[in-house]
This record gives sequence, structure tokens and C-alpha cells, in this order.
Amino acid sequence: MFVARTIPDEGLEPIAEACDARIWESDVPPPRAALLAAIAGCDGVLTMLTDRVDDEFLDAAGPQLRVVSNMAVGYDNIDVPACSRRGIPVGNTPGVLTETTADLAWALILAAARRLPEGERHVRSGGWRTWSPTFQLGVDVHGASLGIVGFGRIGQAVARRALGFGMPVLYASRRRVDRAIEVGLNATWTPLEELLARSDIVTLHVDLNPSTRGLIDAAALGRMKPTAILVNTTRGPVVDSVALAEALRGGVIRAAALDVTDPEPIPADHPLVGLDNCLIVPHIGSATEATRGKMALMAAANLLAGVRGEPLPTAVHAEVAPRR
Ligand code: DGY
Repeated sequence: MFVARTIPDEGLEPIAEACDARIWESDVPPPRAALLAAIAGCDGVLTMLTDRVDDEFLDAAGPQLRVVSNMAVGYDNIDVPACSRRGIPVGNTPGVLTETTADLAWALILAAARRLPEGERHVRSGGWRTWSPTFQLGVDVHGASLGIVGFGRIGQAVARRALGFGMPVLYASRRRVDRAIEVGLNATWTPLEELLARSDIVTLHVDLNPSTRGLIDAAALGRMKPTAILVNTTRGPVVDSVALAEALRGGVIRAAALDVTDPEPIPADHPLVGLDNCLIVPHIGSATEATRGKMALMAAANLLAGVRGEPLPTAVHAEVAPRR
């Protein structure tokens, strides 16, 4: 077994008890060559969203590989059809990070609307001299219209929190949810173009796939209100970073708050990093002690089930029968 990073004990302990596992004991991902060398001959691999799992990876592991368990709900780092062709089940960690990620989306909404990072920088740099009636004015979150792009588990958890802020919710998604859910969440199914034009705050919760890559490009940003705030806690490539930097510089939209970027990590000299109206945090949507512990436990359960030839508790493509 190979575990591609130090994970919380909740996951490490059951793995260490059950089998012979090698852990990449670092906070940074193994370089590609080291990863490919480390997985050779393994029965199971526990990967992170930073590890690319493709034909090259599967060839390097060898034909005995029985499972790939990704410690994330998103699995755009994994070529799932390539795994399916070889009969290798893939596990992910849905559900346990929903509320934690929705909390972070809200932290970003509030921080961007009320310009918290700018205020904090101002105080730290010794710039706070007095109270001013015109200093650092933000926008109200309560009562604003919230556009949610992608209305799965996390999108709906974000909408639930909006009830407390008295916000009408517009949502865009492939499928309309049940009427009872719409009523309960004060949410209206809206075509994306209309959502972009009508929302004061737009928050992204689609997964990354060919149809969502670059979804928020220059044209989409151009449809948004000049006063709007864009929040991204899903995957960086859903937003065209260059177009976003231009839109923020040119006043096409008011502000952005990003937990994910493209590229990721974003280099310090990227045009987005220097902008006062762009808040960026380092992909910490699920980063609480409790949630990362649950994710590690779930990833370990998938790994061990796959190695034993049992169905994975949470498999991303249930049609692949586990190898026996
Ligand atoms: C995920 O799980 O996909 C997040 O991006 C990291 O928790």
C-alpha cells in the first residue's frame, strides 16, 4: 500500500494495523518520478487531489493494483475511465466535508463583501489612525441576491446558510431540484446567463469536468454586475484566471474571493495575487481537524475494502466490480 502524504491519524491507524503501508511523510506531494517509483507493485494507493492518476500511473503501479482511494470529494485528478478499463475501483470522500466547505464559502463571501483582508492589512501596517465615515466601505450581504452555480450537496449547504441572511437564492444546475427543496431554500432555478446578470454574489459549486472548465470566462464575467462578488471554492480551472484578473482590474466586477486557483498553488507574481479586491486562501475548504479526520478515515476504509476485494463504501464509479 502507498499513502501519498501524511494524513490524519484517523486514517493512518487503520491502514497501519491492517497492512504493510509506505507513507510519503511530507506536507508536499511526491515528485512524479518518486510517486511512480513508490507505487510499483502496490495493491492499493491512497492519493490526494495533487496526484495525477492516469495510464502512466496505472502502468507504473502494475496489474496487481486493486484500488485507488482519493482523499477528496473531487476526483478530477483521476482518469476514471482509465481505471474502469482496468477494473480498478476509485474511492472518494463525499458528504463529510459538505458543511465545512460551505462554512468556508461563507467566510469568503463575508470577507470579500466587508473587505476584511484590506482592513486587517491596514491595522497590521500601523495605518489605523481614526474612525472615518467613508473609510473601507463594503457592501451588505444580508438581503443581497446569491447566485449558486452547481446545486449539489455543497451548493445547497451554502443556500441553507443564506436563509439566515434573508437572501433570495438563484441557482443554476443541470437538473432542477425538487420543488420542496426550492421552497425550503428560497431558491429559484435560473439559466446561468440570467443568474450571472442578476446576482450580487456568485458562488461556484460545480465539479471540474470538460463542460465546466473555463465556465467563468471573460464573457461570463462581462455578464455579471459591476458591483458583484465572485467566490470560488470548487476547482481553480472553472474560472479563467487571466480573464478574472482583467475583470477585477478593470472594474468589470467588484471583487473575488478564491479558495482554489489556476494554477494551484498560485505563484506570488500572478496578476491576481497583487490585487486588493482579490482575496485568495490556499485551498482550505475542508481544512478543519474534525473534517480532515473524517476524510482520512473514509479514504482508509475505501483503500482497505478495495484491497480485500470488497465493494468500496464510497466509490465514484459503482459499475466497476471490485477485483477479487
Ligand atoms: C475536495 O475534497 O475535493 C476538496 O477540494 C479538498 O477537500
